[in-house]
Amino acid sequence: MTASSSVMVSLRGISKSFHHDHVLRGVDLDVRRGRVCCLLGRSGAGKSTLLRCINMLETIDRGLIRVDGELMGHRFVGDSLHRLPERLLSKQRAELGMVFQRFNLFGHLTVLENIVTAPVRVRGESRQQAEARARDLLAHVGLAGREGYYPAQLSGGQQQRVAIARALAMRPKVMLFDEPTSALDPELVGEVLAVMRDLASEGMTMIVVTHEIGFARQVADQVAFMDDGRIVEQGPPAQVLGAPEHESTQAFLSKLVS
Ligand SMILES: Nc1ncnc2c1ncn2[C@@H]1O[C@H](COP(=O)(O)OP(=O)(O)OP(=O)(O)O)[C@@H](O)[C@H]1O
Ligand SMILES: [Mg+2]
Repeated sequence: MTASSSVMVSLRGISKSFHHDHVLRGVDLDVRRGRVCCLLGRSGAGKSTLLRCINMLETIDRGLIRVDGELMGHRFVGDSLHRLPERLLSKQRAELGMVFQRFNLFGHLTVLENIVTAPVRVRGESRQQAEARARDLLAHVGLAGREGYYPAQLSGGQQQRVAIARALAMRPKVMLFDEPTSALDPELVGEVLAVMRDLASEGMTMIVVTHEIGFARQVADQVAFMDDGRIVEQGPPAQVLGAPEHESTQAFLSKLVS
């Protein structure tokens, strides 16, 4: 297998309960390097929880997560799994960029500070290097010249593009997006999707929870449909969106068009 077709994110048997609520029921998923996987499903299906588990913002009850071949959150000692200490967890977490529905920028910091803080503190980059990269990234997301603005002085679409630049500043191997456009006014959705489309064409591996079916159809290499804590159907967009086999996928898609 060539490097370009190797698996970047591998999930095996991921299970997670909150009290007695079994939210993830054995999720298996492979996303290849440089590919885009769109994750769809009705509200409460477990999509956000799955992303939060991949990013280790939630602990899993069972299963294995690998990113670029590396086991996340745990190591094997003989046959038994041991949770990694927090110091190593945050190092692994830095490999994954996450963009949330609500931009989660630090309101008291300028755009530039929002972007440079983590690379300097977590990655140990020099301030000069981090600032130069932040300026490049801002230009890349169409926000050159906004370095000194505060989040409240930007539109939602601009804030979300800053959030994407901030995640990219950590040089992640994978970008996770949780409904990145669903809190935006309709006229601002396109500019954020355009940045995501560029990222995909540059070869970033992405897992995107979205209700933007047009984006999934055009940009995704793979669509996975979740229902009640399981991936019930997955494949190329033309197959899953064009000719869904599972009843819940059909019901979900028919509601979107009507
Ligand atoms: N921290 C938590 N404590 C308890 N239950 C939780 C927690 N987080 C999520 N859940 C429950 O897990 C289930 C799945 O939630 P999740 O947020 O993953 O769904 P989702 O597919 O992202 O839905 P949506 O499309 O509405 O964002 C829901 O029933 C939710 O109430
Ligand atoms: Mg969600």
